[in-house]
Amino acid sequence: RAKVTINTIQNLYKNKEPITVLTAHDYPTGLFVEKAGIEVCLVGDSLGMVALGYQNTSPITMEEMLHHCRAVTRGAKSPFLIGDMPFGSYETSSTDALKNAIRFIKEGNMEGVKLEGGSEMFETIQKITRVGIPVMGHVGLTPQRQYSLGGYRIQGKTADSAKKLIKDAKALQEAGCFAIVLEAVSEPIATYTTKMLHIPTIGIGAGAGTDGQVLVQQDMLGIFDRFMPRFCKQYANLDKIVTDAIKTYREEVKSGIFPAKEHSYPMEKGEYEKFLQ
Ligand code: KIV
Ligand code: NA
Repeated sequence: RAKVTINTIQNLYKNKEPITVLTAHDYPTGLFVEKAGIEVCLVGDSLGMVALGYQNTSPITMEEMLHHCRAVTRGAKSPFLIGDMPFGSYETSSTDALKNAIRFIKEGNMEGVKLEGGSEMFETIQKITRVGIPVMGHVGLTPQRQYSLGGYRIQGKTADSAKKLIKDAKALQEAGCFAIVLEAVSEPIATYTTKMLHIPTIGIGAGAGTDGQVLVQQDMLGIFDRFMPRFCKQYANLDKIVTDAIKTYREEVKSGIFPAKEHSYPMEKGEYEKFLQ
């Protein structure tokens, strides 16, 4: 596979070819993204939930993110690599944000970063992009701000909410973002925002009018037997496949079916008899 760069993404956008983005959190999930031809691999802070079992994305640290980023890059070589700045790593000051963005490049082997927020992040995004680190914005439902949003709520459902979202998206573009994630945004407003901007929008729960789509890999593979939001199409049911496989393994060990002859190593002819003498 040819290496995907920021230019590749701009060309896809120019040619109106949908941009595919998928998360990964370790070496095997990175390899899947690589082999499937996905253009952008996002090491999302959602890995705190889907790989580490946290209740939400608040607890995950820079160290944990960087550890997972490095693992992903051993598998995902061709996709453009974006590291998701965790809660607390970029809000305190633009200097803190720049320091941590640089860590994603130097220690996480990433090629760009993503951060949540709107016009209030303007200076921070400028500071990061000016040193040559591509920034992906993220507006709409911003999970790191779940407490002030009152939970995981769809954004852009009312005219007021839509106006704020569009103002934020414009500010992110002005600040220098190369793309913007629109999460859980009503379809008309996601489409309107997409048409208004001259950088690509990447939707998750934002309908068909965006320039690209992103999903969380574990969710789209159905690795968990639990509630999934309506936007998350499940392309597989790995929970069932994996649990059934492991149950079968257990039963076969209990009943003596496994291991069979073909899983066992013989000795050289005559050697066992010789050994017994
Ligand atoms: O953390 C994540 O996986 C994300 C995507 C859903 C955009 O932020
Ligand atoms: Na995220």
